[in-house]
Amino acid sequence: MNGAPQPYGLLAEVTHQCPLHCVYCSNPLELIDRQNELGTDDWLRVINEAVALGVVQVHFSGGEPLVRSDLETLVAECRRLGLYTNLITSGLGLTESRAKSLVEAGLNSAQLSIQGDAAESTNLVAASKRFDKKEAAARIIRDAGLPLNMNVVLHRMNLPRLDAIIDVCVSWGAERLELANSQYYGWALRNRDLLMPTKAQLDDAVGVYERRKAELRESMELLWILPDYYEPYPKPCMGGWAQNALTVAPDGTVYPCPVAAEITTMTFASVRDHDLGWIWAKSEAFQAYRGTEWMPDPCQSCPRKELDFGGCRCQAFALTGDAARTDPVCMHSPDHHLVQDALVRANQEEVPTDGQRLREKLVYRRPTVSARQP
Ligand code: SF4
Ligand code: FES
Repeated sequence: MNGAPQPYGLLAEVTHQCPLHCVYCSNPLELIDRQNELGTDDWLRVINEAVALGVVQVHFSGGEPLVRSDLETLVAECRRLGLYTNLITSGLGLTESRAKSLVEAGLNSAQLSIQGDAAESTNLVAASKRFDKKEAAARIIRDAGLPLNMNVVLHRMNLPRLDAIIDVCVSWGAERLELANSQYYGWALRNRDLLMPTKAQLDDAVGVYERRKAELRESMELLWILPDYYEPYPKPCMGGWAQNALTVAPDGTVYPCPVAAEITTMTFASVRDHDLGWIWAKSEAFQAYRGTEWMPDPCQSCPRKELDFGGCRCQAFALTGDAARTDPVCMHSPDHHLVQDALVRANQEEVPTDGQRLREKLVYRRPTVSARQP
């Protein structure tokens, strides 16, 4: 592919419609309206173009992908083409019959998100009282014969409950649990002061994670996604810009990562106008930060530049307004004070602990949708 690396993963964001209102939602601030979503035929073409590019895994995401009634058709096409498919779901809307039809279409696995270990945490973080639906979804996924992967975003309000969260996932039969410390772009940046844990909370949580990982090593895989603000160096986000995965948004716009729509200074191409292969190899946005040539100092002269690729472009843009700058998480970044200031606030300021006061302060994801025409 003209010197471009080969992607192996496609994140198919088939809709932004979602029953939840998570305070750390990673979808763009401006959501895509339902009437601007790609239709079934467009998605089938995208899947075929992805295969031609070398993609071997398709993750159906959203919003809530179960909202799309053509999901089975898309999964079946993936199966026909020999792709591995994964459903990333809130679990709301998953019924026995829907799980059965998805499995019959060829679905390989499902990842179920939870917000905490009980109904209160789901209500606090996602403004939904349907924790019972999540428990039911876990059972439905297992009864359908799918491996149950689970995911929880960790933050100041639920980190002290980590042991109990892991217990819930064990009792629901999860085979894998991703403990994803909150990242701060998009909606989460708005709520950063309420989400950011203290250093003491994190140290305790790391202890819990290590103990439970050892205890559960025979039955459940535990993954710890680092809280990067507390790290000296940034995460190698996406394994580097436009290196091994791509995201197609509900309206057909193609991004090198699921958060990149937030980089408002860049123009991203659409599958409505271009072949996925051209977008991956030739479009300006995909080439902008691929490799290491584009890097400014201190990254350009840094021995770690092939390890972390200068960190996260979305985080650099969110914090500095310039996606080409070194990720401010890095201790060598000239903007590192932006991260340090947030950590000082997190460790000094009192955050309310009672649910009612927290609910008044948190900014919940609103279902605002774009008037933008494709
Ligand atoms: Fe990574 Fe750049 Fe920091 Fe070096 S200077 S550690 S390449 S972000
Ligand atoms: Fe987009 Fe890191 S989240 S590059």
